[in-house]
Amino acid sequence: MKRLLVAGLVVIGLNIGSFAAVDGKKIFEKNSCPICHKETKDAIGPSLKTIAEFYKNNPKQLEQFFKGQADPIVWPDRFDMMKTQMGKFKAMSDEELKALIEYMLKH
Ligand code: HEC
Repeated sequence: MKRLLVAGLVVIGLNIGSFAAVDGKKIFEKNSCPICHKETKDAIGPSLKTIAEFYKNNPKQLEQFFKGQADPIVWPDRFDMMKTQMGKFKAMSDEELKALIEYMLKH
């Protein structure tokens, strides 16, 4: 009985662990996005608030942008700098992309 309980706790622990792995904010921070993207103030890149204004009603298009299937729409004339970041999205799973998009569009 005790062993069963321990096994149960381990399973719950693992679940919490994998939930944290798809935390959009963590993905954003881990990939150095905050260097150029602040929460509310435009900086080197547009703020999350600015980006959310463009994509709030169309998260699918943001997913396509990250996958290289849609053109930039926020500051297209400054895309060169963002272009160097695009490889990072290729390394992300669909689940991670979704979490990242959800976090960004909350602003
Ligand atoms: C070296 C600075 C820099 C870093 C680091 C950076 N970006 Fe950007 N990003 C920019 C610039 C500049 C733009 C404006 C050009 C543009 O709109 O595409 C931009 C634009 C964007 C846009 C708007 C795209 C559009 O439709 O125009 C999104 C979304 C975005 N970045 C997400 C991210 C995410 C997520 C990360 C982290 C993986 C990241 N950026 C890292 C500089 C950066």
